[in-house]
Amino acid sequence: MDTKNKLLLCLKEQKGDWISGELISNRLSVSRTAIWKHVCKLKADGYVIESSPKKGYLLNKVPDLLLADEIQEKLNTSVFGKKDIIHFQETDSTNTRAKDLASNGAPEGTVVIAEKQTKGRGRRGRDWFSPVGDGIYTSLILRPAISPVRAPKITLMAAVAVAESLLSLTQLDVRIKWPNDILINGKKIAGILTEISTEMDRVDYIVVGLGLNVNTSFGSSSGEVKERATSILVETGKRFSRIKLIRTYLQLYEKYYEMFNKSGFEPIMSRWKELANIVGQRIMVDTIGKKYTGEVLDVDGDGVLIMKDDQGSVHRIFSGDVTLARPL
Ligand code: BTN
Repeated sequence: MDTKNKLLLCLKEQKGDWISGELISNRLSVSRTAIWKHVCKLKADGYVIESSPKKGYLLNKVPDLLLADEIQEKLNTSVFGKKDIIHFQETDSTNTRAKDLASNGAPEGTVVIAEKQTKGRGRRGRDWFSPVGDGIYTSLILRPAISPVRAPKITLMAAVAVAESLLSLTQLDVRIKWPNDILINGKKIAGILTEISTEMDRVDYIVVGLGLNVNTSFGSSSGEVKERATSILVETGKRFSRIKLIRTYLQLYEKYYEMFNKSGFEPIMSRWKELANIVGQRIMVDTIGKKYTGEVLDVDGDGVLIMKDDQGSVHRIFSGDVTLARPL
């Protein structure tokens, strides 16, 4: 832990009481000038800290921001978010930032987070509504030792991690919608955008971008977004801790990633199927250029949707938008 974090811990331990500069200086073995410098840095991050020549320092408010220090304080992972969490007040797209970092050698587990995105990107060229401070907009850099054909598994396990995070922290009825949307009451609460860079027959890096609507009220969004999207705030009427959610997501995702590396994908895929409940359903799928209606026969370990259309032909669908269809 660096000095700034140790100082933050000292201030937090006081639980609203003052702590003298001398005591901090003795505890951390740093000069009082160094403490002052770190206090200034914390203030710049949004912490409200009072200072008095007689009483020392008092932490008055922790900002509602997804700061690295706050996430890492109780983060129980070995790699994901453990070392580098890069936080932006505003950026174009965390996926774009993460891809830049990854192509410059950023290690596995690096996390990029923004309070606001000006060009948040969704699947199939769509925008991702990213108002300031309401949602989680984050991208994780992974460098799995796998061939590119196995990469879709990384996205499927992200969807399971997001769904499980919501299930464990809220009482909401969470579903996965193929390929990797997360729904509550039929409306989308989270989406995943995976981007991959390959070299010959191996993955160089994968950026897994997650957009999760936490305290989003959709007041300033388009009518279409309002109709199709939801958030924890909309569903429960209450604001929810974004910090807790992102921590849980990183922990669960790392757990599935380790499981995948050690014991394969079977257990994760069967959990995906339970959460998606799509096999046997009648659906309409809109792929680029073609639409099919029929019954889902299976989703294979690469996330490919296998369906039999109403004329009896079997299709392997790699990407598209699915809606439930009326029974015949
Ligand atoms: C989807 O269309 O369902 C995927 C949405 C993914 C949005 C997230 S927000 C963080 C990351 N940065 C982006 O520009 N997109 C992803």
